[in-house]
Amino acid sequence: MGHLGIGVLASGRGSNFQSIIDAVERGYLRVTLRVLVTDNPEAFAIERAKNHGIEHLVMRPKEFASREEYFERIAAELKRRGVYLVVLAGFMRIVGKPLIDAFPGRIMNIHPALLPSFPGLHGQRQALDYGVKISGCTVHFVDEGMDTGPVIIQAAVPVSPDDTEETLSERILKLEHRIFPEAIRLYAEGRLRVEGKAVKIFGYELDKGHIVNPLLRH
Ligand code: GRF
Repeated sequence: MGHLGIGVLASGRGSNFQSIIDAVERGYLRVTLRVLVTDNPEAFAIERAKNHGIEHLVMRPKEFASREEYFERIAAELKRRGVYLVVLAGFMRIVGKPLIDAFPGRIMNIHPALLPSFPGLHGQRQALDYGVKISGCTVHFVDEGMDTGPVIIQAAVPVSPDDTEETLSERILKLEHRIFPEAIRLYAEGRLRVEGKAVKIFGYELDKGHIVNPLLRH
């Protein structure tokens, strides 16, 4: 089948990578996971790739002459393997221009906050410190900024007064694992189109439920 070729970039635990693997294995996502590229030889994501017969490459920035060259080489390795869409699943670096230029509008990232709030590191902690009552996660296309690209899908959770960074992260992560495969599926089905900053979705469905936190008493 002419399956969409996906390359995943991850730096750590790789639970989002796993959610994508699971969606593929369940047949929910009809794509081919061609390669995992990691900048961290200790990343648990590597075990996940091995367990599911997915090739992995460890590419560390310090082994390259410059940041430019690093991202050029990543782009070349992805292309060589027939990757069309690049998925950042906890890749803890800002993607360099050579990779963005090689995959224009074809890189997605997941972020653990409701962008444009709380971009960058520790989105969950930033949300707690700010005291917002609702946070969540965002899948977006990647541009050259830090978590600034067009938003594809978001999911919201209430923030509890008892939350720690860990409990809030856990609540958000459960939704990350649901929206990331969904965003990739929408892409694979050709249902996303970027118009300016906005992503238009064909066959859009709206969940009319709502979250109010604290609850209304009327
Ligand atoms: C997730 O919280 C993701 O939103 C952020 O980095 C974390 C990666 O977790 N970008 P994992 O490696 O997918 O388990």
